[in-house]
Amino acid sequence: MSATIIDGKAFAATVREKVAGHVARLKEEHGITPGLAVVLVGEDPASQVYVRSKNKATKEAGMLGVEYRLDADAPQDELLRLIEDLNTNPEIHGILVQLPLPGHLNEDLVINAIDPAKDVDGFHISNVGLLGTGQKSMVPCTPLGCLMMLRDHHGSLSGMNAVVIGRSNIVGKPMAQLLLGDSCTVTIAHSRTKDLPEVVRRADIVVAAVGRPEMVTGDWIKPGATVIDVGINRIDAPEKGEGKTRLVGDCDFDSCAAVAGAITPVPGGVGPMTIACLLANTVTACCRANG
Ligand code: GUN
Repeated sequence: MSATIIDGKAFAATVREKVAGHVARLKEEHGITPGLAVVLVGEDPASQVYVRSKNKATKEAGMLGVEYRLDADAPQDELLRLIEDLNTNPEIHGILVQLPLPGHLNEDLVINAIDPAKDVDGFHISNVGLLGTGQKSMVPCTPLGCLMMLRDHHGSLSGMNAVVIGRSNIVGKPMAQLLLGDSCTVTIAHSRTKDLPEVVRRADIVVAAVGRPEMVTGDWIKPGATVIDVGINRIDAPEKGEGKTRLVGDCDFDSCAAVAGAITPVPGGVGPMTIACLLANTVTACCRANG
């Protein structure tokens, strides 16, 4: 293995420390406690884990963390009423509705019901438009965390060829906007892209966000490229014993690390940075709300 491992867990710890310091000053000097509300509809096991760790991290940073759980069959009106209450609650500065939502709920309608100023996910159409036009916005947490790691590793990203694999609204599209904002030449690749390995081989920066375990292999990677693996996939691990599983990314770590210049591990790469950025976005929303 030749690649530098980009330690997202350690980087996230420094971001979270800074956030905690900022929160302490807001409390002491202004008597304000930033507050984040996380809403979970249903009982998807992975979403439950994410929501629990987001709430725990919020409290550890000294913020107010409130968790709302609705039944899987909760009517849309009930969710919209809760969002409206949170929109007008002065103690709440950030609102996150965990996705995906159960099929009977209209995700776009729900996201766009959140006050854009409290939309710490950066998914509201106003924030999407602001980001796309290079204006001050709430920036989606996962792509923001990826960008911070890339800037930390490279300094300037100007002129680099970046390939983002995946075109989701949560990661792929905003990631591409952020890389463009840092003057990369950006390609968004996806399941219909012709000769994907060849496209990826042109990249100085690869961001893999497709949700397919270990799809990207070392022979796709240009020697020395930086690989950011956004995937979190649970796969069977019979070598660990019957019924055991393990987490892997969208990149085959060993073969990619043998060729890349730098790579994020799974777990311990992008995941911790996503949570750190959520906390940072909540503090930003709180500061903007209080002038
Ligand atoms: N589901 C997977 N990632 C995310 C995220 O970043 N925010 C929300 N709200 N839901 C998600």
